[in-house]
Amino acid sequence: MEIIIADTYEKLSALGADIIQRQLLRKPSSVLGLATGSTPVGLYQELVKRHREHGLDFSKVTTFNLDEYLDLSPSHPQSYRYFMDHNLFNHINVDAQNIHVPYGHTEEVDEFCDWYEEEIRRAGGIDIQLLGIGADGHIAFNEPGSSLGSRTRLKTLTKQTIDDNARFFDKNEEVPRFAITMGVGTILEAKEILLVANGAKKAAIVAEAIEGPITAQVSASALQMHRHVTVIVDAEAGAMLKRADYYKWVFEEKKRLVPRLVGKVT
Ligand code: PGA
Repeated sequence: MEIIIADTYEKLSALGADIIQRQLLRKPSSVLGLATGSTPVGLYQELVKRHREHGLDFSKVTTFNLDEYLDLSPSHPQSYRYFMDHNLFNHINVDAQNIHVPYGHTEEVDEFCDWYEEEIRRAGGIDIQLLGIGADGHIAFNEPGSSLGSRTRLKTLTKQTIDDNARFFDKNEEVPRFAITMGVGTILEAKEILLVANGAKKAAIVAEAIEGPITAQVSASALQMHRHVTVIVDAEAGAMLKRADYYKWVFEEKKRLVPRLVGKVT
């Protein structure tokens, strides 16, 4: 795992966008795994800016989002499809036919989940998967206890996740209790993974996920088994990492010796 501790959220977002941009330049028809939540918003703004100002091209890209609330239609302002349209898709030249966000209004949940997995396979697998991390250690909506081999399925959200998400809804009762989510096993099949986390309230769980034991109680800890993971945190979210000095040293050494590994591609 490569752990990058950025000074600020803006730097975290720019470094994350560098990694996605590098992937797109290497393979214009990349399959991107995308995430919602407040953390990746700055990264998406960077990508939109690079599209507008430098012509970063998404025309051949295919996207798969991690998750969606059950029973919210794509036009609901709190649906993840709506979030993606407004934060990214409406501002770049991605082909609408190549966008995949789990459909929360489906009647046939199991069939839909199987189809979603099949679509990912048909697209050739995910080249790079962007992730946030929940305060309970979830990646996508894989709440504690999710099998490390789990696939796309219906998941019941924890009380903590419902409370964390309540800020986006008028009333706590309106927060959906269920979601369709890629599984931990689905995520681990991505060729590359980029996890972003910011803010002091993520510090403890970031340290647990990266430096603690691999356990289904902290879904993000499963990333320790993946061969190509980059974690970018801001200073606050990285504050409890025991080996922070080493991660910073690695970053500086890489920059010095192999600038193309961490350098800006713009
Ligand atoms: P956040 O959500 O980016 O809004 O903190 C992260 C998550 O729950 O995956």
